[in-house]
Amino acid sequence: MAELDLDPFTDVLDVPMYVVTAAAGDDRAGCLVGFASQCSIHPARYMVWLSEANHTFKVALRATHLTVHVLRREQRELARWFGSQTGDRVDKFERVAWHESADGSPVLNEADVWFVGRIEERIAGGDHVGFLLTPTEQSPPAPQAPALLRLSDVKDFEPGHPA
Ligand SMILES: Cc1cc2nc3c(=O)[nH]c(=O)nc-3n(C[C@H](O)[C@H](O)[C@H](O)COP(=O)(O)O)c2cc1C
Repeated sequence: MAELDLDPFTDVLDVPMYVVTAAAGDDRAGCLVGFASQCSIHPARYMVWLSEANHTFKVALRATHLTVHVLRREQRELARWFGSQTGDRVDKFERVAWHESADGSPVLNEADVWFVGRIEERIAGGDHVGFLLTPTEQSPPAPQAPALLRLSDVKDFEPGHPA
């Protein structure tokens, strides 16, 4: 039987887009991510899925924590920078303001809503690997939920690191 893709399903969901960052030693990395969701309430856990092809995946393998940021709708160019370039060729952190979380994971100053998560486990998903995260630090509560950048806003982007 022919393999189905999930486009008709995921197009309707129009998931929010994230920038996920990692650091290990002097290496920093980050990429645009659409595959992510909460997966436990007690304990609070979140799962993000990184493509094995990405520079971010390679750094994340050596990291203890990841930072998961959501972007406001108007932050399309920031999303393009992280989603259409690869850290194999550019230093994405040269052009953006960031600071270190308590655990050394990069936090993008432009993002209002983010959390840092300790990597508990990695789970094979197919061409992406799931990083199971327990939150250790997070941005202050947003006064009101921002309009988020979603898949439909960035569908025209060419991934910087094709799988
Ligand atoms: C709409 C869109 C969604 C993406 N979702 C993911 C994702 O869920 N996980 C992932 O690892 N890469 C995802 N990517 C691909 C990476 O963001 C992209 O290849 C990036 O350039 C990789 O950068 P890096 O090599 O520096 O890690 C997505 C790209 C786009 C344009």
